[in-house]
Amino acid sequence: MSNPYAPPTSTDLPAASGEPPGPLDMSINPASVEDATLLLARLGAPPRLLRHVALVSEAGERLLGLAAELDLPINATLVRVGIVLHDAGKILVSAELDASGGEHEPLGQDLLLKQGVSPALARICLSHARWSEMAVSLEELLVALSDKLWKGVRNAQLEERVINEAAKALKRDPWDLFVQLDSLFEDVAAGGTARLEQSRV
Ligand SMILES: [Fe+2]
Repeated sequence: MSNPYAPPTSTDLPAASGEPPGPLDMSINPASVEDATLLLARLGAPPRLLRHVALVSEAGERLLGLAAELDLPINATLVRVGIVLHDAGKILVSAELDASGGEHEPLGQDLLLKQGVSPALARICLSHARWSEMAVSLEELLVALSDKLWKGVRNAQLEERVINEAAKALKRDPWDLFVQLDSLFEDVAAGGTARLEQSRV
């Protein structure tokens, strides 16, 4: 049986996905949460989407807090701005604000690229949902995980990917990190019901 937590191989990669974004000092556009939020508003994001972004960001900040404590070498701005922009496609596919569906994912990437958004950010429109089918960075995995935990959803496969990638980046054993990270995931997810309440605007 194949190991579901093994890193993706070249055969797993969709042709158009390219390589995951790279170095920590990579400059991105928009470069800040403020600029990304302004862009989202200018593109016509409804209040519900802006609230969703705020709630996912709340979960994301918890993950980034521990990442900083662990000295995890990641680009935290990429995670923060990625969270703001990950569902930009729902501006075009408003039905997916309430119902599941993946139409907003490629449309969001195209929308952002047309606005001059960095490809490393625009691809998060795809990777936050398709992380298991693409080569993705740890930053992208953290966006995807924030998008689950905010509403109280635990995803064992995604969490294990995050733990494994974090361990690799820190040159530590995944089991050394498991309890600390798993407890954090549980704690963030525990606020899911309250956040879901707040998401109804
Ligand atoms: Fe989302």
